[in-house]
Amino acid sequence: MIILGIETSCDETAAAVVKDGTKILSNVVASSAEMHIKTGGIIPEQAARQQIKSILPVIQETVDRSRLAVDQIDAIAVTSGPGLIGSLLVGVETAKTLSYVWRKPIIPVNHLVGHIYANWLKEERESGRAGENKLPQFPLIALVVSGGHTDLVYMKGHSKIELVGTTRDDAAGECFDKCARILGLPYPGGPAIAAAAARYQIPDTRYKLKMFPRPMLNENNFDFSFSGLKTAVLNEVKGKKRITHSAVKVKDVEHYAAEIQEAVCDVLVKKSLEVLERYEPKSFLLAGGVAANLRLREKISDEIKTKKLQVILHVPKPNFCTDNAASIAGCAFYNQKPIPWQKISANPGLTINS
Ligand code: KG4
Ligand code: ZN
Repeated sequence: MIILGIETSCDETAAAVVKDGTKILSNVVASSAEMHIKTGGIIPEQAARQQIKSILPVIQETVDRSRLAVDQIDAIAVTSGPGLIGSLLVGVETAKTLSYVWRKPIIPVNHLVGHIYANWLKEERESGRAGENKLPQFPLIALVVSGGHTDLVYMKGHSKIELVGTTRDDAAGECFDKCARILGLPYPGGPAIAAAAARYQIPDTRYKLKMFPRPMLNENNFDFSFSGLKTAVLNEVKGKKRITHSAVKVKDVEHYAAEIQEAVCDVLVKKSLEVLERYEPKSFLLAGGVAANLRLREKISDEIKTKKLQVILHVPKPNFCTDNAASIAGCAFYNQKPIPWQKISANPGLTINS
């Protein structure tokens, strides 16, 4: 079955053609990130205006690159939420129109569940150990870490999602983005912090990156909280500025970036490991933009080995962790619930299990 996926929930305009949920025939992502660098974050109205301009050229390019005729496409999948309302509407209304004109079924996809399905895409998986080139196995645990969400879910099968833990305030990606802003690093903050952290050289091998708090780590639940970490970073950086009466020095930024990255990763890894020990799933899947973080990937892989857990780690390639339409088309294949085009609507407040 061949599905055309469309994704416009945030600042990307993406379309992809995917066969049977695993084989990418074409994949195009247009990002307006450059525009948001100037403003230090996304201005929703501007993002949506840009997406209106990009959506048809992106879809046309995707269909052209797939080398298929429109007749060969069996269905259209589109992200219906969560996300920015203006951005979601661009994708949903376009998909609706194509569904009507081409007479093809339309499949609404939850963006967060879509992220998980990057792990089913062939050639885009980076699996650990014996997992190479194997599809994820149920039951599984997935950690979905994006700009707006931090969720740990248990899946007994496709469409069978149970929320195990979530953030009580900021998402992990949001924490990276806000901390980057405090440090004067560009948007999106995650990759900027990761790059600055990579330049930091630990002064002494005994030095441990323990400057910032690890919120909720010792609480008896699987939930997260990241807003306290952001406040701790703000207080530290403000204090430093007062002492030096100048902007934070480049070397300090690199050190802070390494400390922030380590604190966020520590919490994500420790909570995930607790969930893996409790649920004993066959597969553990990373998903969402923050899963592109190399330190997070390395730490999780190391911990699974150290604790000798019998779980196979699945990690998409970095550009399939961030927003893309191939994951959306893949998700639609495995969770096929087509609806009449008249019934689809954008739903910015969707949760991962709604
Ligand atoms: O999944 P995504 O592309 O969009 C949303 O659904 O939100 O995730 C975007 C988030 C942003 O907060 C961005 O800073 C973060 O993912 N991110 C990263 C990295 N690449 C993107 N965070 C840490 N390290 C990275 N390498
Ligand atoms: Zn996303």
